[in-house]
Amino acid sequence: MKSTLGQGCCRLDLTRDARHHVAFGFGVHQCLGQPLARMELQVVYGTLYKRIPTLRPAAPMEDVRFKTDAFIYGVHELPVSW
Ligand code: HEM
Repeated sequence: MKSTLGQGCCRLDLTRDARHHVAFGFGVHQCLGQPLARMELQVVYGTLYKRIPTLRPAAPMEDVRFKTDAFIYGVHELPVSW
């Protein structure tokens, strides 16, 4: 997909070199909690899929509603099953 965000930005590719992303902002107001957030996410994803290896979405992604009108982007709800 071609986009102003860069080639392949809309596809989950865990091998993509995306070290220069701005998810934590940039410059003088770059996120101060970044090291904590990174560590928490490593622990969460490392633990979650080990504890619940069958965890999966319980609804088709086309039915998941995204918060396109909010300051913080995300989903309203994500039904899961295991
Ligand atoms: C995945 C989790 C997180 C994301 C994606 C995130 C993202 C961001 C972003 C984009 C900014 C810059 C906002 C701007 O430009 O005005 C920011 C700022 C900030 N974040 Fe986070 N953040 C996360 C977690 C945390 C945590 C866990 C803490 C504290 C424990 C934290 C504390 C802060 C603070 C204090 C600022 C303001 C820095 C400043 O204005 O100088 N953040 N964050």
